[in-house]
Amino acid sequence: MWRLCYHPVMTKTRVTVSAAANIALIKYWGKLEKGLNQPATASLSIGLEDLRTTTIIERIEGQSDVIDFNAPETARQRILDFLDLLRKQYEVQGHFHITTENNFPTGTGLASSASGFAALAIGFSEILNLNLSRQVLSQLARIGSGSAARSVFGGFVEIIPADDAFASRIMPAEDWPLAVIVAIASDGTKTVGSSEAMKHTAATSPYYREWLRSHVQDMDDARLAIVDRDFEKLADVAEHNCLKMHGAIITTRPPILYWLPATLAVMHEVRQLRESGTPAFFTIDAGAQVKVICPAEHAKSINARISELPGILRTIETRVGGEPEITAS
Ligand code: PMV
Repeated sequence: MWRLCYHPVMTKTRVTVSAAANIALIKYWGKLEKGLNQPATASLSIGLEDLRTTTIIERIEGQSDVIDFNAPETARQRILDFLDLLRKQYEVQGHFHITTENNFPTGTGLASSASGFAALAIGFSEILNLNLSRQVLSQLARIGSGSAARSVFGGFVEIIPADDAFASRIMPAEDWPLAVIVAIASDGTKTVGSSEAMKHTAATSPYYREWLRSHVQDMDDARLAIVDRDFEKLADVAEHNCLKMHGAIITTRPPILYWLPATLAVMHEVRQLRESGTPAFFTIDAGAQVKVICPAEHAKSINARISELPGILRTIETRVGGEPEITAS
């Protein structure tokens, strides 16, 4: 359960934070030129209860931070840069030992940077007794990764572009029991990282301008669908928004194509499920994996169908949730 306490006299030396990945139903794709990692579009997501990063932060003597993370050097460097930024912003002395682990594949389009930077921001506040509000934690996490701003909350979450954008919760997960089946189509790392691909889309896709223009309407439709628990309406706008983002990505020069044959196999299967009366929709981020969203009671049978598809390596089934936890200190 979430807790962030202020202990003015107590100094902590170690905290453990678990934060969940999230998946955007209305996507953030594009950055503003000004500010620190400011999104050019609003976005709306659901937290994935069982896809988690666990991060232990310990204070250490010494002249540099130590990062234990089984990931490429670039991912470790992003953590070091983020710690430097936090140290500067809060005028903190000293260094940290960070041990971080994902219980799902890293850097393959499954939002590991979202849960990772949310866990770091929360852990930093906790170990230093900074007592930062969730709004500020969300702003900090956003600097590490745009989607991380949303993982500071569980449930249904949105971000609206603003001077120093932050996420807020639309509705708790319990108010609409949905499930997500993550279909793994590749264990390889992304061909092009999201920041680079966003820049490339803004610079070369003829559809980027339209992507930005029509975004507010998609947000309004999705928010309303969530509040009304209107699955069909949410399915319609979420798939449209996902395909529009990939439309802009595919039409870059040179083009970026994240999809694999197995990605398309899942998309077709979801359409067939819907035609035969099973409520489900798909969404895809900057990678080959497909996330299938459905009412919780349909998860088992849909998972059985998806995991049989050619090229699908395995699936992960989770409910919507994802409240961060500070599990030990
Ligand atoms: O948080 P980033 O910089 O990895 O970008 C996330 C981009 C998408 O996952 C494709 C969309 C989103 O809103 O999460």
